[in-house]
Amino acid sequence: MEIKNRDIILEQAKEYSSFYIYDENVINEYTERLKKNFRGIGFLYSIKTNPFINVVKSVFSHGFGADAASLNEVLLAEKCGLAPDMVYYSAPGKTERDIMGALGKCVITADSLNEIALIEKTAGEMGVKAEIGVRINPDFSFYGGKGGPSKFGIEEYQLFDRAEYLKGLKNIKITGLHVHLHSQELNTDCINMYYKNMFSLINRTVEKLGIDLKFVNLGSGIGIPYAREDCEVNVEALGKNLSKMVEDFKSSMPLVSVFVETGRYCVGKSGLYAAKVLDKKVSFGKTYVILANTLNGFMRPAMAHILEKYTDDEKPAESEPFYTCKGAFQYIPLNNNTETEKVTLCGNLCTSTDIMEEDIELAKLEVGDTLVITNAGSYAAVITPMQFASLNPPVQLMLKSDGSVTCADK
Ligand SMILES: Cc1ncc(COP(=O)(O)O)c(C=O)c1O
Repeated sequence: MEIKNRDIILEQAKEYSSFYIYDENVINEYTERLKKNFRGIGFLYSIKTNPFINVVKSVFSHGFGADAASLNEVLLAEKCGLAPDMVYYSAPGKTERDIMGALGKCVITADSLNEIALIEKTAGEMGVKAEIGVRINPDFSFYGGKGGPSKFGIEEYQLFDRAEYLKGLKNIKITGLHVHLHSQELNTDCINMYYKNMFSLINRTVEKLGIDLKFVNLGSGIGIPYAREDCEVNVEALGKNLSKMVEDFKSSMPLVSVFVETGRYCVGKSGLYAAKVLDKKVSFGKTYVILANTLNGFMRPAMAHILEKYTDDEKPAESEPFYTCKGAFQYIPLNNNTETEKVTLCGNLCTSTDIMEEDIELAKLEVGDTLVITNAGSYAAVITPMQFASLNPPVQLMLKSDGSVTCADK
């Protein structure tokens, strides 16, 4: 596999033994592709997927709002210059402190009936009136079957049962609806069907609750190819279909903003992880290549190896954002060796589970070489336990569209 920006990566490898590098041009390409194909729809960037400030700023520069999953992400969006009406804060288990900090800085989406009561109380104590959203756990599943139990959101029937209570709230007014059921879907038809079910849900919620609806957030779902055999989502077809649904919906509710959230689609393909070969040894005929910071630098490949090796199933269950599928990462040695070798790629932690791949055939690696791993733009640095063994963590770099490389926030 040919790697773009090879010389730039090798230049950085002179300074850093492990690093992420995010390519702004790729972020531009993916964000613009969404915007071009989805008309009448706003986008919210799910910051949790990659909160590296240069990446966040880059996505926001395309007119995306924020899907914030914590007060800190609300504050990050504010720091990056987003107005409160472009920041949507949705997460389970918000505390009173979170709510106090967030009121006035974003649109809060309540995740439970308890949370509605807490926002009502907190807003009252602060003397403010707030318009909020509610996250619904609908009666249907992402794939169109029956809905099921979830730690997220308020069950549709519970929400409808409490219609009178909700109308009587003094300090908050429900003006928005949010649903997110599934991530990393590659089947365009499934996402289309989900959108269709969402508009039915929105219509019946408005009817049952009698709310003055201002926004709906359809959640995420749009996946990216990880394994070589994965196909891209047909964003053109998806956008065309959703744009039409939104047009129809807006003929009766013209003032409602419709949002789609997305994290990995914007940035997943932009990131590469580079790790230096620190050592190499042969043990009982098996060749180990010891790399800088694997489980503790980019956890997902090592996590995938653990799941694939230690679960009985041939195909471990998808568990986003930690595990997607077999063969989700490609390993590219940045050297000119034409000779190949069967090696086991492992890291420099004192645990034998710190292995990314076993007995993989690669161009022969030597100590000092750099190995690049793909699909490192999303749920990568952010979900990695970097403090393990107190090793220096990888740095994060942005390759800007002008060709310069920056470490943070320049
Ligand atoms: C509520 C919510 N919205 C959006 C996302 C983003 O998903 P993705 O990065 O797959 O687009 C997630 C991911 O966990 C989520 O939980």
